[in-house]
Amino acid sequence: MSVMELLASRRTYRRFEQKAVPQDVVEDIIEALRLSSCGANRQAVRLVVVNRPEDVARVQPLVKWAAYLPPEQGTPKADELPTLYVAVMQDTSIPGDLATDTGIALANMTLAAWAKGVGSCIMGAINKPALTRLLGIEEPQKLAFMVAFGYPAHKAGIVPLTEQTGVKYYLDEHRDYCVPKRSREEIARYL
Ligand SMILES: Cc1cc2nc3c(=O)[nH]c(=O)nc-3n(C[C@H](O)[C@H](O)[C@H](O)COP(=O)(O)O)c2cc1C
Repeated sequence: MSVMELLASRRTYRRFEQKAVPQDVVEDIIEALRLSSCGANRQAVRLVVVNRPEDVARVQPLVKWAAYLPPEQGTPKADELPTLYVAVMQDTSIPGDLATDTGIALANMTLAAWAKGVGSCIMGAINKPALTRLLGIEEPQKLAFMVAFGYPAHKAGIVPLTEQTGVKYYLDEHRDYCVPKRSREEIARYL
């Protein structure tokens, strides 16, 4: 897959097959972080890999899915849950633009996984105090995001963003995700 094909097909997934994410994909996710660009090459982003089924189960109630959908549509059911979580932390003892560094790392990690068919959902709506305790995260590290990973059990594609759609993703008649994206003309201009 070319990089543009990868970008076009990598969407957010919220229902997954109950099949473990292989170790080589976990290693790719870690390597994608390690290779990421970051301000002054300070490398302040850290991960905790949560891949044991019993630990994954403990994370599930501490993340919130699909704010634009009612829970019965957007929250994965027991047999649709992700099989891997990665906690993304920032080492706050390292100065710099940690938010930008984290964003680049999130993009790289989710693309690396998708290159091997593993879908993901970046999750900012998380119970940070409870997850910090559960995952044993200590100062100066600070939890920023969870990322859910797994083999997708649905399709997801982009649709034109119109007055009717707005920015809210929705499910079609097959329960596949439709994600409205603005046109190229709207987001960029040539001088
Ligand atoms: C910073 C950030 C935080 C997000 N937080 C959540 C979240 O808490 N729960 C969720 O279900 N999706 C979350 N998402 C996924 C977005 O809803 C999704 O990326 C967006 O709807 C666009 O869909 P796409 O990734 O398929 O292009 C988050 C994405 C980003 C980049």
